[in-house]
Amino acid sequence: MSSVDINQILKRRNAVSLRASQLPASGIRKFFDLLSSMEGVISLGVGEPDFVTPWHIREAAIYSLEKGYTMYTSNKGMPELRQALSAYLKSHFGLTYNPDTELLITVGVSEALDLATRAILDPEDEVIISDPSYVAYPACITLAGGVPVAVPTQAETGFRLNAASVESNITRHTKAILLGYPANPTGAVMSRSELIQVCQVAQKHNLLVISDEVYSRLVYGVEHTCLASLPDMKERTILLGGFSKAFAMTGWRVGYAAARPDIIEAMTRIHQYTMLCASITGQVAALEALNNGEKEVQQMVLEYDRRRRFMVKGLNSIGLSCPEPQGAFYCFPSIRSTGLSSEDFAEKLLMEEKVAVVPGSAFGSGGEGHVRCCYATSLPDIEEALKRMGRFVKKLNVQKP
Ligand SMILES: Cc1ncc(COP(=O)(O)O)c(C=O)c1O
Repeated sequence: MSSVDINQILKRRNAVSLRASQLPASGIRKFFDLLSSMEGVISLGVGEPDFVTPWHIREAAIYSLEKGYTMYTSNKGMPELRQALSAYLKSHFGLTYNPDTELLITVGVSEALDLATRAILDPEDEVIISDPSYVAYPACITLAGGVPVAVPTQAETGFRLNAASVESNITRHTKAILLGYPANPTGAVMSRSELIQVCQVAQKHNLLVISDEVYSRLVYGVEHTCLASLPDMKERTILLGGFSKAFAMTGWRVGYAAARPDIIEAMTRIHQYTMLCASITGQVAALEALNNGEKEVQQMVLEYDRRRRFMVKGLNSIGLSCPEPQGAFYCFPSIRSTGLSSEDFAEKLLMEEKVAVVPGSAFGSGGEGHVRCCYATSLPDIEEALKRMGRFVKKLNVQKP
């Protein structure tokens, strides 16, 4: 077809589909486009570890390339990786997943989320999520043809999802609850008993639960409860996990889904036509991480914990109220005392003091009045950022509580 023909067609029809054009741009992305052109910015914005992937993991990947491992793998992922993952889930959470039928290696938790929603949702099926929540949740549900139903959570109750609020939002269209704890952006962790209460609602109304546990290893002074390990939950849970956060492996793009065989089979069918498989180099690295990466995970968690305590103390001392987050690597202080909206606060702070934080409103209307500050950044940078934020807040004439 000649270019003239294509231009004529494009004139007659919108090039971009309704579905794609209605998808809002990520509030995070919009913000980072703004700072990409600036110099001297300290970023507390990006949600990724500042650590480089541990050397032995990189070395295993390099060696696999030297040996010529450059092919596709099985759609479900390398059998050795699925076996190691099965053993990992058993030893960490007491869960038994068959590596051949109940596990799928994906391109990060991002792909696993997309597959899970597409595998279970029919048009107009509703999925309950918390507000605020990770930006991809409503987007993936919408792209899969479903309807996200946001249940507000409050700072006063630590942004944890309340079972009664979940139940009051259930309709005859509700198909699933999507939980993400430890939470992005709030750092909230649900206790075992709170999770059990939400699970009882899921059981009562025969709902599936998608549980995004990408931050499961990043908890401080509390235990992470794997949702699928709760009584009678394995059958109705799609457990999502990955390597990006705990092993500092964001760029390798490896994650996984664990669920009952019919769901994994459906997810694999979509995955085989869209991704085919996760990259073999990433999978080799993930295998090394599972087999020998534990020590570094624990070291990184200790370091995040130190930074977390430093940031919480610093934010409170400059007048931005911030209770201790128990998981992930985010503080979510209130900025209400400044009288600014979260977007204005983030934009002014960036322009005037060159510190990047993410407006809470990017994560849903329930995030308004807060900003997300990531502490996966070096301690000296956090210290300097807090100094600048203190100056900024002082200029706004904020009274300390
Ligand atoms: C809650 C949550 N889930 C999933 C992801 C994506 O993880 P991955 O890198 O494994 O795709 C992120 C990344 O920030 C996240 O915060």
